[in-house]
Amino acid sequence: MNIANKILELKKEKNAVLLAHYYQYPEIQEIADFVGDSLALSKKASETDADIILFAGVHFMGETAKLLSPHKKVIIPDLAAGCSLADSCSASDLETLRNEYPDHTVVTYINCSAEVKALSDYVCTSSNAVEVINNIPKSIPIIFAPDKNLGKYLIKETRRDMVLWDGACVVHEAFSFDKLMDLIRAYPFAEIIAHPESEPHFLKTAHFVGSTAALLKYVQTSNKTEFIIATEVGIIHEMQKAVPHKTLIPAPTDEDNTCACSECAFMKVNTLQKVYDCLLNETPEILIESTVLEKASKPIEAMLEFSY
Ligand code: 13P
Ligand code: SF4
Repeated sequence: MNIANKILELKKEKNAVLLAHYYQYPEIQEIADFVGDSLALSKKASETDADIILFAGVHFMGETAKLLSPHKKVIIPDLAAGCSLADSCSASDLETLRNEYPDHTVVTYINCSAEVKALSDYVCTSSNAVEVINNIPKSIPIIFAPDKNLGKYLIKETRRDMVLWDGACVVHEAFSFDKLMDLIRAYPFAEIIAHPESEPHFLKTAHFVGSTAALLKYVQTSNKTEFIIATEVGIIHEMQKAVPHKTLIPAPTDEDNTCACSECAFMKVNTLQKVYDCLLNETPEILIESTVLEKASKPIEAMLEFSY
């Protein structure tokens, strides 16, 4: 039996659900029960009746699943699956900033640790960030962490003034603007679509800006046939399945970029073998200290109520 079938069998035997982010390798996406963006996967994690949640994504996503299903066993294939955004923002540094601006409300992007979520008034994903900000009364000033690029995009979209944390996604900051210009010359009819974690000058050239789920929907509903995709390259697997007749071109990256293309090295530490080992041994498990869990689950639950 091949490894994919072994995982499917074990999943049934253990009543486990496999949730996979769009940035996972195609072979992991193919055997997942649900593939989605951060918001959709959080919803699935809160609704599942499985005994085990196996989260093929990065560490903060596994933590979010645990916050939403604290009585379930949540496991992830590799604890090394971090995130440059989550790593940029420690709870103690955020607390210092919060103390500097005591009248500000703290909105954090879901790409952060449970400890940081525990210090947050609101959590958002790239799918609902504009709605979350617009829901906060205009008289209340905002600290937004940890993604400065998403923060700048939100300032533009919501016309709110915000104190921004200085974090960024290494993948979305690696796109090359010069090479993008060459690509536009080669594909003059292509539409550029970009994730809001990209830098402002990149977003300025984009025809459409949205979360991974929104980008996927856009290529399906647009009457255009060529797209330059400025987000992690893993999304192209699901996109190409949805629009097999359309041309999908990954946005180019700088040569000195450590990734070969716009691949997230953190997302790509997960392999089928690790998914299998993780389910077989039920480890590594996500565990969150109870006071952190109690505090951090509140802004996440509030976000989900708001997003249904
Ligand atoms: P979304 O899944 O919300 O589009 O976010 C992308 C991302 O960078 C996840 O790490
Ligand atoms: Fe973090 Fe960027 Fe990787 Fe998403 S793509 S997990 S934001 S480093």
